[in-house]
Amino acid sequence: AGAGVLQGRRVLITAGPTLEDIDPVRFVGNRSSGKMGFAVAAAARAAGAEVTLVSGPVSLPTPDGVTRIDVRSAQQMHQAVFAALPGQDVFIAAAAVADYRPAEPLAQKRKKAGETWQIDLVLNPDILAEVAARPQRPFIVGFAAETNDVEAHARDKLRRKRLDMIAANHVGQPGCGFESCDNALSVYWQDGGEEIALADKSAVAAQLVECIARRMEAAG
Ligand code: C5P
Repeated sequence: AGAGVLQGRRVLITAGPTLEDIDPVRFVGNRSSGKMGFAVAAAARAAGAEVTLVSGPVSLPTPDGVTRIDVRSAQQMHQAVFAALPGQDVFIAAAAVADYRPAEPLAQKRKKAGETWQIDLVLNPDILAEVAARPQRPFIVGFAAETNDVEAHARDKLRRKRLDMIAANHVGQPGCGFESCDNALSVYWQDGGEEIALADKSAVAAQLVECIARRMEAAG
């Protein structure tokens, strides 16, 4: 990103999946390498921001100069985000948070028995929507992974979750999304948008950071 476009800003980022334990050896969760969120953290740092990265379980090194908080479940991520939130200027939710968690995680490993196994799941908190619902809020950026009608779905999410900006991944397109090193993003805000062309995730992250800085300036 342009040197210093986020100079002096405090930026909080979530990244990676959350894993929701079924028992001590099994879990449910989403596919996410954390690469995009980590690239955004590195780009925000390079742009001069003070960056806090709340990460689910990933195998990625912490970007230089970034404060990292490791969590496992959505509930832990929720707690870590709200603890770190006061004083933040920007919140970027790049984590693939599990929408549901097992209602009653087992303290001991369940033995294999029977042909089927039913597990009740309960809804996790929507971290992004809760941050956005607060009266005193930072500039808020969400991510969306869409396979079809990308703009309509992303704009709907922008409105529903009361975001300032949403960055949509076109999943299912070659070279994009999960585990890939490359990505392309369609970025939308209330009265505009911008396409970030397919490139490696660090180049895409740098452009996203520039876009965030421009929008924050425009918003005053
Ligand atoms: O509604 P959907 O899950 O598609 O929205 C995705 C966006 O919401 C992402 O930015 C993701 O990080 C965030 N999110 C969240 N907490 C959840 C679910 C999604 O912060 N429980």
